[in-house]
Amino acid sequence: MPTLLITGAGRGLGLEFVRHYAAAGWRVHACARDPETAGLKAIGGDVVRHRLDVGDFAATEALAASLKGEAIDLLLANAGIAGRAAGELGRIDPAVWAETFRVNALAPLKLAEAFLEHVAASRLRTMVAISSRLGSIGLNKEGGRYAYRASKTALNMGWTSLAVDTRARGTICVVLHPGWVSTDMGGAAAPVTPVQSVAGMTAVIAGLKAADSGRFINFDAAPLAW
Ligand SMILES: NC(=O)c1ccc[n+]([C@@H]2O[C@H](COP(=O)([O-])OP(=O)(O)OC[C@H]3O[C@@H](n4cnc5c(N)ncnc54)[C@H](OP(=O)(O)O)[C@@H]3O)[C@@H](O)[C@H]2O)c1
Repeated sequence: MPTLLITGAGRGLGLEFVRHYAAAGWRVHACARDPETAGLKAIGGDVVRHRLDVGDFAATEALAASLKGEAIDLLLANAGIAGRAAGELGRIDPAVWAETFRVNALAPLKLAEAFLEHVAASRLRTMVAISSRLGSIGLNKEGGRYAYRASKTALNMGWTSLAVDTRARGTICVVLHPGWVSTDMGGAAAPVTPVQSVAGMTAVIAGLKAADSGRFINFDAAPLAW
């Protein structure tokens, strides 16, 4: 069976991804800031839990070194923060902006850098970052959410270069929008449940071809504007 490595696995979409792939029989490396959470520990199957704060790049490197020689079919950069405190005009806070970029834009790329050899050695060779429609410049008609939007736009650009630069290694790199989902981040009013979102995204991932590398895709498989 294939192997997944995912960040932000302790709750929300990350936890649902772990449930999905563990139930499908995959080997799952579930990375979380607190890998001892009850939700994660309750998932059966071939799940290996790791402690990882994605903003700690030395820790990301150390984890990659500890898994040296293990093929990772699907690298899923899921961890993210809302950066709400720096969200609106008049409240743009450089410290929050920097942290939002560190976690949402830089950490996924540092993860991809650290695990590139593991992915290239696998059969599926797929790297997915969970982005957001809010990172689309073309679709931005509402304004606001400055730090979060800009961090996801930066993530999209980074992942596009990653797709180009690793194409010769046979990798497929895409950014996905999960929908507006009823997690802690999305809030209770969100119309899509984590189960629905992950069902959609895992179907998209299962159908990816080499020609899809570099695309921005919605959880229902619709293409998204940059
Ligand atoms: N929900 C939505 O409507 C929506 C829409 C568009 C995009 N997204 C994206 O989907 C992804 C998952 O979000 P979600 O809805 O599941 O949000 P969530 O319920 O708030 O979960 C966020 C996850 O990210 C983890 N995380 C945050 N900072 C981290 C760090 N420094 N190191 C490691 N893990 C960290 C959290 O871990 P802790 O438990 O340790 O805090 C948690 O597991 C994010 O990238 C988000 O931007 C969500």
